[in-house]
Amino acid sequence: MAAQVADKKVCVIGGSGFVAATLVKLLLEKGYSVNTTVRDPDNQKKVSHLTELQKLGDLQIFRADLTDELSFDAPIEGCEFVFHVATPVNFASEDPENDMIKPAIEGVLNVLQACARVNSVKRVVLTSSAAAVSINTLEGTGLVMTEDNWTDVEFLSNAKPPTWGYPASKMLAERKAWEFAEEHNIDLITVIPSLMAGRSITSDVPSSIGLATGLLSGNDFLQNALKGMQMLSGSISISHVEDVCRAHILVAEKESASGRYICCAVNTSAPELAKFLSKRYPQYKVPTDFGDFPSKTKLVLSSEKLTKEGFSFKYGIEQIYDETVEYLEEVGMLKN
Ligand SMILES: NC(=O)c1ccc[n+]([C@@H]2O[C@H](COP(=O)([O-])OP(=O)(O)OC[C@H]3O[C@@H](n4cnc5c(N)ncnc54)[C@H](OP(=O)(O)O)[C@@H]3O)[C@@H](O)[C@H]2O)c1
Repeated sequence: MAAQVADKKVCVIGGSGFVAATLVKLLLEKGYSVNTTVRDPDNQKKVSHLTELQKLGDLQIFRADLTDELSFDAPIEGCEFVFHVATPVNFASEDPENDMIKPAIEGVLNVLQACARVNSVKRVVLTSSAAAVSINTLEGTGLVMTEDNWTDVEFLSNAKPPTWGYPASKMLAERKAWEFAEEHNIDLITVIPSLMAGRSITSDVPSSIGLATGLLSGNDFLQNALKGMQMLSGSISISHVEDVCRAHILVAEKESASGRYICCAVNTSAPELAKFLSKRYPQYKVPTDFGDFPSKTKLVLSSEKLTKEGFSFKYGIEQIYDETVEYLEEVGMLKN
């Protein structure tokens, strides 16, 4: 156990999720005591990876719902850092306003209100998304997106492109978090990850891994979703989940860290990604004919601010996909 964190307790909101589960694991491995919240601690399928992680260290599981204002006081009590990772995700929703936007904002406020009530909290790290940064009506190629950029939510709510509710919820929830933190003097940091792949310790394969590997699995729906992502967001930007979780821990621990941090290892396009995948994994039938679909990205997400803070990515595109393919083969989701 690392001596400097031996007596530190932290809280991870949403331990049943892909990213939060990995974050809990890394925090326990570093020696932190961890409280995590789930909506239903009695749902074995959703918590079995957490009970398994209890072998690694002090991990307490609490019941809390983003829409229940007081449910966060108990898990946050005594914690120095709070990682607010959970968010409602429902890409198929026909009512994004009520299914994603309202609960995401309400959740941020409920968690931050609890953090303001509990004296022990020194810093809150909120997991935002590239979807809160990169969606805009700019044109061109090679644009560089930094922490100064915000998704154009007016465009999203007027044009309502497919899946618009998710990016709108992430952008509006992050904005609300900054407003609340400023008003209540909370030390807030946001991490802005790109699409994540890698290995999941949850019992279900996360939808983001399915999306990131749509070109390998031959799933038409996912391949179109990936192309749609490029058209809406301006790029296919990918990171390994473990790197994103390491970034969360770094910005929590580093006193001088402040503001927003983009965390993105690789910026590519669907045609470029297909070329890479078809060469590296010839056993899978990766489509490489994209017609006139743009092979150059409209934009790239810059992680310069994060790397200047001392962060380095462990996983490049080869390692991200090697591990993801190995994981999907192990769980029987990719068969060659
Ligand atoms: N995965 C990616 O590629 C990616 C990329 C960029 C940003 N992010 C961000 O990273 C974070 C984690 O994403 P993920 O991929 O790990 O998503 P995930 O696996 O779908 O997990 C979402 C989590 O949020 C919880 N949740 C949803 N509604 C809730 C509510 N009303 N009350 C309490 N908990 C609720 C879910 O709990 P249940 O298990 O009970 O449903 C689940 O634990 C999110 O903030 C997401 O926007 C993810």
